[in-house]
Formats: sequence, structure tokens, C-alpha cells
Amino acid sequence: MLRITIDGPAGAGKSTVARELAQLLGYTYLDTGAMYRALALSALREGVDSGDEPALAALLSRLDLRFERGRIRLGDEDVADEIRAPAVDRIVSLVAAHPRVREAFVARQRALAGDGGVVVDGRDAGTVVLPDAECKFFLTASLDARADRRHRELLSQGLRVSIDEVRREMAERDALDEMRSVGALRVPEGALLVDTTGLSVVEVVRHLAEYCRVRGA
Ligand code: DC
Repeated sequence: MLRITIDGPAGAGKSTVARELAQLLGYTYLDTGAMYRALALSALREGVDSGDEPALAALLSRLDLRFERGRIRLGDEDVADEIRAPAVDRIVSLVAAHPRVREAFVARQRALAGDGGVVVDGRDAGTVVLPDAECKFFLTASLDARADRRHRELLSQGLRVSIDEVRREMAERDALDEMRSVGALRVPEGALLVDTTGLSVVEVVRHLAEYCRVRGA
């Protein structure tokens, strides 16, 4: 049972690919972005400022966060849809930039990853969370392709936003994710770089699965 990590910027198709790859291999899927999003959602609800690191760390330590049947929950409440709301998008990179927040989540993520049989997706999965994972991937795509995916996702949720706005917010988030001092988005050592622009999910999953099978998955 291998440990597989998938990193990359927003909209590169990571979560869909990670979920399907996990299903194909019979592995568990761990969506680390959902954890940062759940904290951001809690901060919005409780009026905690996204710049207040001690308050966020305290909030996180009280967070009853679980995954059940692939959906994230805060206590008894399923928040899998709500964590994708634009209000969460806007602050999640700020929330995720705090070293104390990252430290606490990385520890939880390592515990959840256990001994293997897991596909972990995020920004620092292959660099910080599981640097000695057997299979590491870095998915990218052009900003236009990524904004287009995210835009469709928002439309399917009934949210009407312009593609220009989505592209601008995405570029801002990328910059924050790449520039932060801890857990910055970068290509992990030994990772396979995959540009998903113009590729279907099926094609990407097949490519990754072959790579993992050669390595014993
Ligand atoms: O993958 P996503 O869009 O759900 O991620 C949401 C935010 O969380 C994004 O701004 C980057 C941040 N994130 C992070 O800093 N570290 C991770 N391991 C996963 C996500």
C-alpha cells in the first residue's frame, strides 16, 4: 500500500483526479484543502479574523473535523458544499498562510495518512506532509483552463460570477499560495509533473495509475 501525493495550483483538477485515482486503486482519499476550507468556514461563522493567528489556532484545536464517506463534517454537520462557497475562497489562502495553522493540520494529515493506501491532495502534500511518499505528482494547467473549470463548478452550484473575476481571484490565490513562508506551493523533489490542459479526467487518472502500478500500487 503506497502513499501517493498530488500537489498543484487551484483548478488543475487535483481533487477530481485524486478521488478517482483513490477509487481505482482502492485507496483512501485525503483532501487537505477541505481541512483549510473547513477552518476558514468556521472562522467566518465565529467572526474570527483571517489575520488573527492565535485565534485561528485556538479555533482549530476545538474543530471536530472528520471525513465520512468522502464528505467533510464539522461535528454532525456535513459542510462539504458550504466550504466551496466564494466567501470561503476569498479568505482560505490567508487562513492557510499561518505557520501555527499549518503545523497543526500537517500533524493531523500525517495521522490520517497512516501507513499508506492513501492519496493525499494539497499544496504541500509531497513537500511537507509526506516528503517520503512513494508516488508524487504535481498537476498544472494554464490559468485560463483552471479558471474555466472553476467557473463551470460555480455555475453548476447556481452561482453567477464572471470568468474574469474567477481568473483574477485565482491568480491572487496562486500568488499567496506560492509566496507564503511555510508550506509554499512548489514542485516536490522526485514528483512527476503533469500538465492537464486539454486532457480529460480519465486520461489523467489512467496516466497516474500506470505510474503508480509500476511502483507497486
Ligand atoms: O485545493 P483547494 O482549492 O481546496 O485549497 C484551498 C486553499 O487551501 C488554497 O488557497 C490553498 C490552501 N491549501 C494549503 O495551503 N495547503 C494544502 N495542503 C491544501 C490547501
